[in-house]
Amino acid sequence: MQFHKYDVVVVGAGGAGMRAAIEAGQRSRTAVLTKLYPTRSHTGAAQGGMCAALANVEEDNWEWHTFDTIKGGDYLVDQDAAEVMAKEAIDAVLDLEKMGLPFNRTPEGRIDQRRFGGHTRDHGKAPVRRSCYAADRTGHMILQTLYQNCIKHGVEFFNEFYVLDITMTPGPDGTQHCTGAVAYELATGEIHVFQAKSVIFATGGFGKVFKTTSNAHTLTGDGMGIIYRKGLPLEDMEFYQFHPTGLAGLGILISEAVRGEGGILRNADGERFMERYAPTIKDLAPRDIVARSMAMEVLEGRGAGPNKDHVLLDVTHLGEDVLESKLPDITEFSRTYLGVEPLHEPVPVYPTAHYAMGGVPTNVDAEVLADNENTVPGLYAAGEVACVSVHGSNRLGTNSLLDINVFGRRAGIAAAEYANQHDFLELPEQPAKLVEGMVNHLRTAEGGERVANIRTALQETMDANASVYRTEETLKQALSDVQLLKERYGRIAVHDKGKRYNHDLLEAVELGFLLDLAEALVNSALARKESRGGHAREDYTTRDDTNFMRHSMQYKQLPEEEDPNAPLGLTGFRSDIRLEYKPVTVTRYQPMERKY
Ligand code: FUM
Repeated sequence: MQFHKYDVVVVGAGGAGMRAAIEAGQRSRTAVLTKLYPTRSHTGAAQGGMCAALANVEEDNWEWHTFDTIKGGDYLVDQDAAEVMAKEAIDAVLDLEKMGLPFNRTPEGRIDQRRFGGHTRDHGKAPVRRSCYAADRTGHMILQTLYQNCIKHGVEFFNEFYVLDITMTPGPDGTQHCTGAVAYELATGEIHVFQAKSVIFATGGFGKVFKTTSNAHTLTGDGMGIIYRKGLPLEDMEFYQFHPTGLAGLGILISEAVRGEGGILRNADGERFMERYAPTIKDLAPRDIVARSMAMEVLEGRGAGPNKDHVLLDVTHLGEDVLESKLPDITEFSRTYLGVEPLHEPVPVYPTAHYAMGGVPTNVDAEVLADNENTVPGLYAAGEVACVSVHGSNRLGTNSLLDINVFGRRAGIAAAEYANQHDFLELPEQPAKLVEGMVNHLRTAEGGERVANIRTALQETMDANASVYRTEETLKQALSDVQLLKERYGRIAVHDKGKRYNHDLLEAVELGFLLDLAEALVNSALARKESRGGHAREDYTTRDDTNFMRHSMQYKQLPEEEDPNAPLGLTGFRSDIRLEYKPVTVTRYQPMERKY
């Protein structure tokens, strides 16, 4: 086992992690631990842009952006946080420009802006051009830019270091403080303990609980899982976003920027069906509304293709120039993966699991909440792993790249300031006990269950029962399936017993996190007997502000004493969950009927 000591440790090298590291690295000794090579993160899948009311191409202001974010989130957004994000958006874009990000430009040389779902002029009157973009590669450009700037500021990277636990130590006031992270080095199988004054989690989402997803294989909710297993809460897990335009049958993302540039959704009859569901902004309605409308077209028999199971994204009127200059990647994806030439024929699309609105609750300084009132000293989170909550029950497109930049920056500053004001606390006596137990158990377990079979069964039940539309019956089915799979997980065997790049072992650990998070998602979805944003119930079709204008907070019930016989040496397979609620912060906008 190796020991390391840093003021600030950042877990995850996506946009939020690297934006945090740029700030922390300028103020304190900072390390980034990442299970991937930096720049390979899922930030790259946010293709179409990052919004900010720059008003470069038409009138706009940050208050309209705040309102759109709150209404887009179906009024479950904490409004103080949305205001922070929309106000700081402008500097966040300008910071990236100064760091060297190659944005598309207007003929006058300003950062160009395009339309995106749910972003409107003057409280919903018409779509507004608010998304700053670099073709359909904005996320990729952000990753490259942030990485270069991390290097410039002396941030140290530990690549392919998979963090599996955090260390907690009682502070002078008796409360538990986060004092470090424990990582498994993929190349060698060695365990590393990183002592730190503050730890920032920026590990992204958990889209791999679903089969049809835009998410990469690595999006297994590790950070959420680690924190949840410490008895800390997860907020609003029932709200999962289905991006309307995944390539049909594959889930690969086709950016919303396509509709921002004028692309139109049509059903099998060629009808522009969004005119019926959102008469004012049509195809540029927020994602929850468009995804539900697409699913409804299919459910009611107006789907396209031999199985009538998708709709069509028509860009044939946009012309080669727009496609090649502003949407080159997604044009190529259609050709490569479906053999469809978007210049001449519509692209088959269907909603794909894309983004978790819920996650580790934080305040606007990215401090992790221990409950509705208190924070965990030394522990921070930003990006998709976190729930600030700026997205409420449905995130607007381009607000994710914004979230990672605004709250990544805030996390880096807050964690470094905390580190500069506090001494190191002692690590617990055996800081790596849990990780050693887990890794040793997995290497030696002889059970008959295979990781791949359990993962496939998990993804199938989640696609079938917890997708765009849900009911009591489907959610109960998903919950019982997941709980059965957790039992089976206790009997898995890993076939590769080696140490170097043991992906068999890696996938087994990831599956444990996925199972915990799927269970949390379904559990809170069952309890929320209303339809709101990314949570649409066929048996409770309307929003119920009287009973459900509140955030869910779920806690994993930890046993009083550690069970020495527990598989994996940890409590990950247990199913006891405590569900509580937290009020929504409303500062300016009372909930209204949501029409577009
Ligand atoms: O459609 C997109 O380009 C995705 C953007 C996002 O998720 O914000």
